[in-house]
Amino acid sequence: MVKDSVHKFCIAPMMQYTDMHDRYLLRLISKKVFLYTEMIATGSLIYGKCFNQLDFNKEEHPVGVQLGGSDIKDLIECSKKCEQYGYDEINLNVGCPSDRVQKGKFGACLMLEPELVKDCLGNMKNSVHIPISIKCRLGVDDNESYEFLHNFISIVKESGISIFIIHARNGILKGLSPRQNRNIPPLKYDYVYKLKKDFPGLEIIINGGIKSIEECHNHLSKVDGVMLGRSAYENPFILKNVESEIFGLEPQDISKKEILNQYLDYVERKLSEGHDLGRMMKHLFGLSRGDKYAKSFRIKILEVIKKNSLKDHKKDLEDLLVY
Ligand SMILES: Cc1cc2nc3c(=O)[nH]c(=O)nc-3n(C[C@H](O)[C@H](O)[C@H](O)COP(=O)(O)O)c2cc1C
Repeated sequence: MVKDSVHKFCIAPMMQYTDMHDRYLLRLISKKVFLYTEMIATGSLIYGKCFNQLDFNKEEHPVGVQLGGSDIKDLIECSKKCEQYGYDEINLNVGCPSDRVQKGKFGACLMLEPELVKDCLGNMKNSVHIPISIKCRLGVDDNESYEFLHNFISIVKESGISIFIIHARNGILKGLSPRQNRNIPPLKYDYVYKLKKDFPGLEIIINGGIKSIEECHNHLSKVDGVMLGRSAYENPFILKNVESEIFGLEPQDISKKEILNQYLDYVERKLSEGHDLGRMMKHLFGLSRGDKYAKSFRIKILEVIKKNSLKDHKKDLEDLLVY
């Protein structure tokens, strides 16, 4: 196992979800988890000149940026830009199965082109001083054997990178939507465990369908890190226990009410910079998960979003959280 891996507990990149505001919220709850941005396509950075997509709060560290692309020149340019912005790591997306992404020749379809992926990652690595990682699937379409994955990793690791995040199911390029692709292909955790056995020097992070701290402990006895997406978004307070139970730190004595108030202070600061209230407020939906007044809390958030005003509602929101 890689000792003291910074990737022991990671939050998955999720488009429309893990934006800078969500990451700020998560960081209020856990100081240690490793965060990733949503996927940013190299084309939109370079040709759309959308560099504000790279903005992040300094509190977010450690935070990696995820790029989507397969043009080596563009990936080099974007990697340099990401390093200048201060990211701690750059991750290449080799897992997204959407039609749009396939048309751009990146994401999961690159699993069929390990040599190209090796060249992309090798060139990215040589152009910056921060770590480069990959997030990929087990395979695509009917390439379902362990040998396919083993061959892919054997070639890609020649790029010199050592951080591999594996979403433990195949991607289906035709016939399944991205959403179905996150649920229908079966999870095969065994493949990821075997990968760690076959490539002990690589840092292997497992992803897909992980819901509890107990499951994390089980995975962590076999691989270096776990990555949670939906379950952490739907219930961000799960991260409170990660500090003590995964990282062995003193338990953080922080309540949901305190998190809410700190986040709302942040929202007010960001509003004055022109950020959108709805985009920031929706990340709070999960904070009341499991609470007595969870539904009323969510309705209140919807009301705030609809009125486009936080004024006079802060106390109401706080009162709807149980602790
Ligand atoms: C709404 C949504 C958006 C996603 N966007 C990305 C993305 O931008 N990049 C990526 O690598 N994976 C993306 N994913 C996949 C997740 O990172 C993760 O691999 C997947 O959800 C499985 O993990 P989970 O079961 O813990 O959610 C997305 C998933 C969801 C639900």
